[in-house]
Amino acid sequence: MPKPIRSAVFPVAGRGTRFLPATKACPKEMLPIVDKPLIQYAVEEAVAAGATKLVFVTGSSKKAIEDHFDSDPELERALDVPGKEALLDSIRNVLPAGVSCIYIRQGEPLGLGHAVLCARPAVGDEPFFVHLCDDLIQGDPGCLKQMAGEYESHGGSVVAVEPVPAEKTSSSGVVAIDDSNVMTEIVEKPAPEDAPSNLAVVGRYLLAPEIFDKLETTGRGAGGEIQLTDAIADLLRESPVYAYQFSGDRYDCGSKLGYLKATVAYGLAHDEVGGQFAAHLKSN
Ligand code: UTP
Repeated sequence: MPKPIRSAVFPVAGRGTRFLPATKACPKEMLPIVDKPLIQYAVEEAVAAGATKLVFVTGSSKKAIEDHFDSDPELERALDVPGKEALLDSIRNVLPAGVSCIYIRQGEPLGLGHAVLCARPAVGDEPFFVHLCDDLIQGDPGCLKQMAGEYESHGGSVVAVEPVPAEKTSSSGVVAIDDSNVMTEIVEKPAPEDAPSNLAVVGRYLLAPEIFDKLETTGRGAGGEIQLTDAIADLLRESPVYAYQFSGDRYDCGSKLGYLKATVAYGLAHDEVGGQFAAHLKSN
């Protein structure tokens, strides 16, 4: 029986330049989709997959994320009146019981791989999730829970992938796999003619702790950053890394168009406003 996954790492130290000026003072992860910030969707997905230790790798101007997951007694008192029960619940239950948060600063934004390595002291010698909240995935069960199920059947590491059109391979990691979905190659942002397949990595990983040793020795790669992809390329030479095609719809909320598409999809699915929103879209 593989070790259970207790930790989820959220690298949130990037600057979100594609969303400036919105992200000048507000972290990208706090941008709302309807009525919840992206980071809350991320935490809910990780908790639903069994994570109880949430490790946020943060940078400067990310204080709003800590505040969001902290209690706010003053606001709770103000909402503790008849008629405001639902709002009070919504702020009290931002973090489910039995879940703890750890915040680690990434001194310099040296890349996603470096951000994951910063989480090592909090994660320890156990497999763990990495969740990039830019990639919002509408799925039931959530993507991380699907990956945890996959991991339970064979152990190893699991990386979520999805097929993309050839011209999109240069925006993410791309993998080659064998007949058992074991990765044989992973390349960061290859040009379409160099891509080993059309399977692109999305922002969900379930990683064996051995990845940390690989990250320690991974030099700077594409864009001069320490790339998680390069460390996974080292890892797959020694232990199996499975590519997992999840079920669900992914929205790239790090891009303006993806963010707008997510807002429409989640708006339509929203209990309170979905019906009216659908009627509005139809009439316009
Ligand atoms: P991105 O490549 O999307 O970069 O990082 P970014 O800075 O967030 O956004 P843009 O491209 O400038 O608009 C992918 C993920 O890795 C994290 C980011 O926070 C994001 O979740 N990251 C990236 C770090 O935590 N540290 C880094 O040094 C780099």
